[in-house]
Amino acid sequence: MKKFEIAVIPGDGIGREVVPAALKVLDTLCEVHGGLRFETTQFDWSCEYYLEHGEMMPEEGLQTLANFNAIFLGAVGNPKLVPDHISLWGLLVKIRREFEQVINIRPAKLIKGVKSPLANPKDFDLIVVRENSEGEYSEIGGRIHRGEDEITVQNAIFTRKGTERAMRYAFELAKKRRGRVTSATKSNGIFHSMPFWDEVFNDVKKDYPTIETESIHIDALAAFFVNRPHMFDVIVASNLFGDILTDLGAAIMGSIGIAPAANININGKYPSMFEPVHGSAPDIVGKGIANPIGQIWTAKMMLDHFGENELGTKLLDIVEQVTEAGIVTPDIGGTATTNEVTEEICKRIKQL
Ligand SMILES: NC(=O)c1ccc[n+]([C@@H]2O[C@H](COP(=O)([O-])OP(=O)(O)OC[C@H]3O[C@@H](n4cnc5c(N)ncnc54)[C@H](O)[C@@H]3O)[C@@H](O)[C@H]2O)c1
Repeated sequence: MKKFEIAVIPGDGIGREVVPAALKVLDTLCEVHGGLRFETTQFDWSCEYYLEHGEMMPEEGLQTLANFNAIFLGAVGNPKLVPDHISLWGLLVKIRREFEQVINIRPAKLIKGVKSPLANPKDFDLIVVRENSEGEYSEIGGRIHRGEDEITVQNAIFTRKGTERAMRYAFELAKKRRGRVTSATKSNGIFHSMPFWDEVFNDVKKDYPTIETESIHIDALAAFFVNRPHMFDVIVASNLFGDILTDLGAAIMGSIGIAPAANININGKYPSMFEPVHGSAPDIVGKGIANPIGQIWTAKMMLDHFGENELGTKLLDIVEQVTEAGIVTPDIGGTATTNEVTEEICKRIKQL
């Protein structure tokens, strides 16, 4: 029996609705498989926890999480209770940074039965590898002279080590896929960091002669996501570019509610974290209509991470059977509830 210990943080809002749904699906898969078990421990770290304790997680929170094989997170944020920069930096970003989860992977593909808003989506199937530890998301900078003379400096940090690491990850991934890597650049507008990014990309690609490569400016790339997303396989992007591009990736799939993500620790020192792209969706919380597919697909990425790729592929196949049958939540045009979608997926897993 293979056993994995998972720290579960449902977080805020619909995180508390879609995480139990995905765990139910995982349990059902394990039952059917017979040789796999996920032992889960729940943590109530959230904005409500912050109001009670003055912090998003206890001081020893990271030490506690370090003992698990993976972290399975819902969503963090309740701007009515806690400002977003406090809730996100106090939990999500803290885990990503302290656990050296330097790579963020976010796939986007046309899902059967889900209508893409694109006129001609063809059969796109791409993965964005986003540098997840530095770049534009840095705390370096400051503000002086309040008032009309005010000045703000925000520094972006690009290290050769971090940049190269993300690029090599993308190339290795492309080897297992369709063998094409696109670099998201902006070296015509950003004077230092992006020519540096291009230089590292050109160095790294020499080690992968069988992989097709191209560099595209991020603005053109965003447009290509809309008019020909099928041309992409693996895209490597900086922290900010990758973040924006993947919301677009979610949008062209049909809803942010189905987009998954993984934050990967590649040196094996700490657990990786699996979380959907969407947030806590305060506008639909409590209505029972949150789409659980993003969280369930995130669970599939966790299965892949543990080497259970075959099971992961079966899970995504079943999700697509259910979407194709039209049993979907309102965000993708259906009338089903979170529970109904989850139950249908579990029912079909039991028929495996
Ligand atoms: N990774 C994270 O934890 C994360 C990511 C993004 C935003 N947030 C936080 O979430 C809060 C709300 O942010 P937001 O409104 O900008 O983004 P959001 O992703 O929560 O919601 C954007 C829109 O998408 C819809 N949506 C999102 N997930 C859905 C799902 N599973 N099913 C159906 N519809 C879904 C929402 O109803 C809303 O209309 C904020 O506090 C924000 O900081 C957290």
